[in-house]
Amino acid sequence: PVRRVHARQVLDSRGNPTVEVEVTVGEGVIGINGYTGRAMVPSGASTGKFEAVELRDGEKGNYGGLSVHRAVENVNTRLAEAILGENALNQRFIDHKIIETDGTDNKNSVGANAALGVSMAVARAAAAALRIPLYQYMGGCHTGRMPVPMMNILNGGRHADNTVDMQEFMIMPAGASNMEEAIRMCGEIYQCLKIILKQKKLSTAVGDEGGFAPDLEDSEKVLELIMEAVKKAGYEPGKDIYIAIDAAASELYDKDRNAYVFPGESLMKGKEILRDSEQMIEYYERLLDQFPIVSIEDGLEEDDWEGWKKLTKYLGARVQLVGDDLFVTNIKRLSCGIRQKAANAILVKVNQIGTLSEALDAVEMAQKSGYRVVISHRSGETEDSFIADLAVATGAGQIKTGAPCRSDRNAKYNQLLRIHEELGELEIYENPFV
Ligand code: PGA
Ligand code: ZN
Repeated sequence: PVRRVHARQVLDSRGNPTVEVEVTVGEGVIGINGYTGRAMVPSGASTGKFEAVELRDGEKGNYGGLSVHRAVENVNTRLAEAILGENALNQRFIDHKIIETDGTDNKNSVGANAALGVSMAVARAAAAALRIPLYQYMGGCHTGRMPVPMMNILNGGRHADNTVDMQEFMIMPAGASNMEEAIRMCGEIYQCLKIILKQKKLSTAVGDEGGFAPDLEDSEKVLELIMEAVKKAGYEPGKDIYIAIDAAASELYDKDRNAYVFPGESLMKGKEILRDSEQMIEYYERLLDQFPIVSIEDGLEEDDWEGWKKLTKYLGARVQLVGDDLFVTNIKRLSCGIRQKAANAILVKVNQIGTLSEALDAVEMAQKSGYRVVISHRSGETEDSFIADLAVATGAGQIKTGAPCRSDRNAKYNQLLRIHEELGELEIYENPFV
């Protein structure tokens, strides 16, 4: 049973406060027979408006309003009371208690950050008590399939202060034969990109997810540089390495003008660049014709179901269309998308929904409906590598967790390297796009 639940405020990768939770389970005296699981909660910057609510104190003069003492308090009181003495091996029941205690649709009472910290820490404690790795605990006998990384090596949008408007440009080492090789390929390309940027006198400073953040004219320019880096590292674009994009289009969308505004591109070209939903689709089509892009995330904004249907109809057979802000790891929104044939993949971020069980429900619904699954970090991360285990446990086949740079990102890749070693011959590493 759960013997102790304790939360504290710690810092995330952006230097903002976040919630850390420790849960101790076991019989007898804690410390002698107890097993403790610890988890830290991530935080987004380009958050979808339908996400579960992250509780922040909003107190002036306290981390600019971002402190999370109320969420910490909710863990230490309401959530602790709800789960103390309960069976930690019954994750679904624990998560049900969390949801019941919160009592709202979007976790705004206890806070999704409080809820998720408890949910993840319970899973860790349970795995520790059974003395098995977390990915095995969450995945049972299904585990073995490694996720192909989507490594965000060039950051823009809300994750950097450069002129790149789309948020993420990622490389996918789909041609690798295992996780270790996949990470090596990306690491080499990342270093080659750095050399190329330096040679061109462009900035090699990095954004929130560890990718470089130079000022560049437009997306074509970004993709050309990435192609150059792939080749310089000795890999073949379209065979060894594919490209994925997260446009994070909800952030570009201006409701009053009913258009997507590209401020960086406008600045660089000296004229305003606006695109409506149709033009966005044409724009993606142009990019697909020129570059080996296999995945486009949040290509349109989160309310534009009609646009998403069109996007999926026109490009869905050619490319993976991932709903992040569109689905927010929520089965209600996902089932709506599946019914309407909007998108063909889901991005799963555990803190968008607030409990592990609900995130697993979203994975299951997607997998049963033929939608692909990408397990994802947030732009605000911690050294917690929970999602690496989750990606292996669910056999999702893809993980998005930033550049091979910044320890908050590498924590996940390093955990995948450990799992790779542990799985040995049982590892399955497959290109999800063939
Ligand atoms: P966020 O960005 O964590 O800032 O929301 C990640 C994403 O959009 O995928
Ligand atoms: Zn996204």
